[in-house]
Amino acid sequence: MNLEELRATLQFKPMPRNHKERVLTRAYSIEDLRRAAKKALPRSVFDYVEGGSDEETTLRENRAAFQSRQLHPRTLNDVSSVSIETTLFGRNLPAPIGFSPTGYTRMMNPDGEIAVARSAGRNGIPYALSTVGTTTIEDVAATGIGHLWMQIYLLKDRELTWALFDRARASGVEVLEFSIDTAIGARRLRDLRNGLTIPPSLSPATIVDIGMHPRYWTSMVRAPGMKFANLADTDKPGQTVADINAQFDSSLTWSDLEDIRSRWPGKLLVKGPINADDAQRAIDAGADGVHLSNHGGRQLDRCVPAIDLVAPVRAQLGDEPTIVVDSGIRHGMDIAIAIAEGADLATVGRPYLFGLAAAGEQGVDAVYEILTAELRRTLQLLGCTTLPELRAHASELITRKQP
Ligand SMILES: Cc1cc2nc3c(=O)[nH]c(=O)nc-3n(C[C@H](O)[C@H](O)[C@H](O)COP(=O)(O)O)c2cc1C
Repeated sequence: MNLEELRATLQFKPMPRNHKERVLTRAYSIEDLRRAAKKALPRSVFDYVEGGSDEETTLRENRAAFQSRQLHPRTLNDVSSVSIETTLFGRNLPAPIGFSPTGYTRMMNPDGEIAVARSAGRNGIPYALSTVGTTTIEDVAATGIGHLWMQIYLLKDRELTWALFDRARASGVEVLEFSIDTAIGARRLRDLRNGLTIPPSLSPATIVDIGMHPRYWTSMVRAPGMKFANLADTDKPGQTVADINAQFDSSLTWSDLEDIRSRWPGKLLVKGPINADDAQRAIDAGADGVHLSNHGGRQLDRCVPAIDLVAPVRAQLGDEPTIVVDSGIRHGMDIAIAIAEGADLATVGRPYLFGLAAAGEQGVDAVYEILTAELRRTLQLLGCTTLPELRAHASELITRKQP
């Protein structure tokens, strides 16, 4: 038996030589991409992405909340043809999936927000650029992404914020997301312990790390410097995370939401861990919907899992207002649960950052492919053929495990 015959007998697939292709070939789940990202990134950068605040209780409970749901399939339904298409703000989407805003994206890979926007655009799903993004809104818009959203922190420097509104509008931003969970920056112990600086600086620890992650450091050194691309004076040297933290305004109130509403003519979502009463208040103040989120466990620790807010908020708001949810979504099953319980769109933060760090733009594509395939398969195994059918049968299909 020669080598080829032996390979065929053992069903050996030769591994691609190219590193990125190797990563992609082995990426069957978001967890696989998380592991690949962990290998690719310096520890402090990986911890920055993966970590949560304080005891990381919310970070863990975001996952536990999804995993506490039990699914009850309706078998022997014809599921030979399944659609996961949906509509949002009157436009069609191929899947109820979006990419949440994340700051400092170019720290995972120099292509950063451009790679994420290209992938979102190619796949026809929304992507929200962060206020503290590392690529300008104009450059992200120039990728031709069809569903461009922008996340806004109302900074102490209001003129800076309003200028960003104008740029967002001129760039064709469709939806503005006003984040209300960042009255102050939370404390992330991993970052403190790792002595994280953004961008990563040359410290003795970094120099040791260069030997362990040469691919990362080579790409970073070759790339143009990282800055808060959407804030004025970005050419000013020395703009730091502390500068940004100092810009968080802890005096915000509901009247600021009204102010935003009067200045922003497009769709407006309020993003944070919003209970049913506050969701109603946001709608009464003119928001088009809410983005239920606990910032992926990065702000208030021991915060309620966002998925547990979906059903009560939907019950309060009725069918019309848009509900987006994130925080802890790692599988198509999680998306099915979110949609069944009342969300219109499920978005992910860390998963696409893991994909980006592991394999660039194609890694982000892989995240979309994995999640959509899992969602489709979940629908089929549950005995549903469309998302409205899933929603209509939610009470039979999903129960909570008894603690
Ligand atoms: C590295 C990182 C940076 C983030 N930056 C922002 C941000 O600038 N603005 C914001 O509203 N949310 C930010 N978030 C929160 C995300 O928008 C989203 O709510 C969260 O990642 C969802 O949870 P998941 O990571 O479990 O999917 C960030 C999250 C991560 C992981």
